[in-house]
Amino acid sequence: MNPRHFLSLLDLDADEFRQLIDHAIAVKQTLKSGCLHQPLQGRVMAMIFEKSSTRTRVSFEAGMAQMGGHAMFLSPRDSQLGRGEPIEDTARVISSMVDVVMIRTFGHDRIETFAAHSSVPVINGLTDLLHPCQLLADMQTWFELRGDIRGRRVAWIGDGNNMCHSWINAARLLDFELFIGCPAGYEPDAAILSAAGERARVVHDPREAVRGADLVVTDVWASMGQEEEQKLREQAFADYQVDEALMALADDDALFMHCLPAHRGEEVSAGVIDGPQSVVWQEAENRLHAQKALVEFLVNGGLTPPA
Ligand code: CP
Ligand code: NVA
Repeated sequence: MNPRHFLSLLDLDADEFRQLIDHAIAVKQTLKSGCLHQPLQGRVMAMIFEKSSTRTRVSFEAGMAQMGGHAMFLSPRDSQLGRGEPIEDTARVISSMVDVVMIRTFGHDRIETFAAHSSVPVINGLTDLLHPCQLLADMQTWFELRGDIRGRRVAWIGDGNNMCHSWINAARLLDFELFIGCPAGYEPDAAILSAAGERARVVHDPREAVRGADLVVTDVWASMGQEEEQKLREQAFADYQVDEALMALADDDALFMHCLPAHRGEEVSAGVIDGPQSVVWQEAENRLHAQKALVEFLVNGGLTPPA
C-alpha cells in the first residue's frame, strides 16, 4: 500500500484537519499536566534540511522524543545527497530504515520525487511552494483563542509566497475568507488562488485587505533562497509593513500572526509583534503540538486519545 504523505494541506480533508487540531490541543494539555502520551515508541523520523530552521527542527525532534520515538537530523553537507546521490535512490534507502521522513527543501518537485519513491510517509517541512506544517500550528492557535474559524476574515499582508499559498489552502479547507494584500508582481500562484474560488482574493491595497479583519498575518519579504533580492523587495514592499496604523483598521479584537523568524522594522513593526494582539509565541510553540498530532496520524494511521 502507498504511504500517506503530507506534502500539502490538501492531502487532508476538512474533517481530518479539524481532528488534528483537536488532537493537538489534547496532547498539549496532556504534556502540560505532566503526563506521557507515547504512541510512537521505537519509531524513527529522518529529518532532511536543505534550508535553515529553528522551529521546525526543534519541534519535530522534541515531539518525536516526547512520543517515545527518535528523530535524526540530516543535512546535505553531511549526507550523500549533497554529493549528488539521486533523490530517488536516497528515498528508497532512507525509507527502508525509518518510519517517517520530514524534508525541508527548495523546489516542491524535490519533495514530490522523494515521496514517490518513499515506502514511508513524507512530511513537507517547507518548500518554495508550501509550508503546510505552519498552518496546522496557526489554526490550532486560532481555535484555542477564538474557536472555529469558519466564516471569519483573515488578511494576508506581503509576499504571495509559500506561507500565503498554505493560507489559501487553509481558507479552502476550513471555509474562511482570505484577503491578500500584496504588491503587483508578488501575487500568489494563480492556480492555487483560483482553486480556492471565493475563499481567497488578491486586493493589492493592504488597507483594503486589513479592514474589518479578525486576523492579520504576514511573513518575511525575502524568503530563504531569495536573499539576493532583499534590496529590491524592501522597495517593493515598503508600503506593506504591518504597523499600528494598519492594525487599527482591523477588528478591535483582531489577532496578529507571523510564522517567524521576523524582521522588526520590515514586514512588521516592533510595536505590533511585541504588542497585545500578537500571538506569535503561542503560534511557534504550537508547532510542537500540531506536528505531534500529524506524525501520530501518519505513522499509526489514526489518533489515540491521550490518557
Ligand atoms: N516558521 C518556521 O518554519 O520556522 P523555522 O524556519 O525556524 O523552522
Ligand atoms: N517564507 C519564509 C518562511 C520561513 C518559515 C521562507 O520560506 O523563508
